[in-house]
Amino acid sequence: MKLLQRRIVDISLLDHEPTGLNRSPPMQLLKTGAFLRAARSARLSIPNRRAPPATTYTPSRWSSSQVATEEHHPFPEQSVNASREVDPAKTAEFKNDGVQKSDTNTISYKQQATIAGTPYIVDQTTNVTSSILGLVGRNLYDHPDHPICITRKLIESCFPHPEYNHFTMSDPVVTVKDNFDVLGFPADHPGRSRTDTYYVNSTHLLRTHTSAHQHAAFQTLATEKRTSGYTICADVYRRDSIDRSHFPVFHQMEGARVWGLPPNAESRYHAQTIRTAKMAKQLDALPKTSIEVEDNATSFSRDTNPMQSEHDPVELQLVVSHLKRSLEYLMEQIHKASQESLDPSARQASGPLKVRWVEAYFPFTSPSFELEVLWNGEWLELLGCGVVQQPILNNAGLKYSIGWAWGLGIERFAMLLFGIPDIRLFWSDDRRFLRQFSRGKVTKFEPFSKFPPCYKDIAFWINPSPGVASPIGAEAPSTSGVAAAAGGDATKASPSETQPAAFHENDIMEVVRDIAGSLAEDVKLVDEFVHPTSGRKSLCYRINYRSLERTLTNEEVNGLHDEVARRMASQFGVELR
Ligand code: DAH
Repeated sequence: MKLLQRRIVDISLLDHEPTGLNRSPPMQLLKTGAFLRAARSARLSIPNRRAPPATTYTPSRWSSSQVATEEHHPFPEQSVNASREVDPAKTAEFKNDGVQKSDTNTISYKQQATIAGTPYIVDQTTNVTSSILGLVGRNLYDHPDHPICITRKLIESCFPHPEYNHFTMSDPVVTVKDNFDVLGFPADHPGRSRTDTYYVNSTHLLRTHTSAHQHAAFQTLATEKRTSGYTICADVYRRDSIDRSHFPVFHQMEGARVWGLPPNAESRYHAQTIRTAKMAKQLDALPKTSIEVEDNATSFSRDTNPMQSEHDPVELQLVVSHLKRSLEYLMEQIHKASQESLDPSARQASGPLKVRWVEAYFPFTSPSFELEVLWNGEWLELLGCGVVQQPILNNAGLKYSIGWAWGLGIERFAMLLFGIPDIRLFWSDDRRFLRQFSRGKVTKFEPFSKFPPCYKDIAFWINPSPGVASPIGAEAPSTSGVAAAAGGDATKASPSETQPAAFHENDIMEVVRDIAGSLAEDVKLVDEFVHPTSGRKSLCYRINYRSLERTLTNEEVNGLHDEVARRMASQFGVELR
């Protein structure tokens, strides 16, 4: 039933459009489905901004360097850094003019940003903030005793070396091409909008998903003999709402596996026969699982989840089975690890693991699937996956290969595994949090204390002429319109909802984040109405300020809230009430 509902609801609206007081967004850590499925219902069009077809993309090669294997991890790994082409949008030298510093990453809206040691020119597309850049380079996935790293290692162990290489990517800046174009994202995909994505400038952004490295990883794979797959782990960035399961930086893992045609066969047909037999054998050799699986995505209908015309139906079926079985094994291992941390009675009470497969849509796979798990009586989306779009493999030098890929959000897995209730905790330096975890072990989080929340409302009239206000920097009104169309926007200026918005709800979130950082626990729209005579729209947002580490003083919260109000008024031209 829920499945049906999910399929017919317009996801882009569901995720972006507040419906007033009762808005309760589905818990989304991976944010995969909504972010990407939105392509189907994308309705904005951005004139003059056509993505080049995937085949015209000239790839930049990866430089990969082997690093020492950590003592405590059974599998060797590689750390890979994308090599950077010289780019007109970057220059080597900048003046240090009015730069707000946060560690080594800096941004000045006048002209420059330095991220992970590389300078970038900023332009009118730039919307990264210094508070976001302050989080770049923490590399939580590399701290062996951190839950993010423990979870990453657990996942990697299900995709062992030498069949799979394990990569981490520390520099989060990627090109628009690698993040979107080369993966087949339509030019008007909402994920590309400045309301959803942190742009460094018009050609570079903070990656929104680890799939941004797919192309380079496949290129590397094309040169490998022993290896036929990989995992990639990295921090990813998305502008989003503020609540206990959303943080603008989170971690993802990506996995892929390909089968090439064997060389030296007498014919293509013969080569494929050999490959098909090999695939069947490898499928058979996968570890057996005993979890309960419901599969609602077994046929590949042309309308809803098509197979690609290049693919042989038998091989396609083998790839899909290999993909599903590999991920079911992953789920079983995760479940086992989480059970080990429970006492026997709790273990019994939690019962067997139930998962289900549902059809999905991603621009870069077809057919595509999502894996959901039954958790506390609710189906929870855990990961997205599918059969890699053939042009992506072809462009990376894997012309006759066929393969699968998956992607998942590590925080969601870690929150379930360790019982961590608030996503901000992952970023905590507090010893009371950090000392609870150690490498190779899954232990249940013991809350150290709960500090009091402090609710503050901010109510304002939206300026009736949208051209007047703009989110960050001077921007033409048409770009603001794109923001509104991209996401369904609470801040639409006109009651008839026909005028473009002056700013997007995510822009409000960004102001709060920039000022309060992780002291803002959540931000909700609690009231909205249209004045009967003037037709002006009023909104009221409730901000919950709460520290995870201490009790905030009234004075401190008032200071933060006043600054939020001041910035809202000056940045968006709203009239505070
Ligand atoms: N990149 C997707 C996301 O951000 C996740 C994903 C889905 C990755 C399917 C994949 C895939 O490789 O095949 O949410």
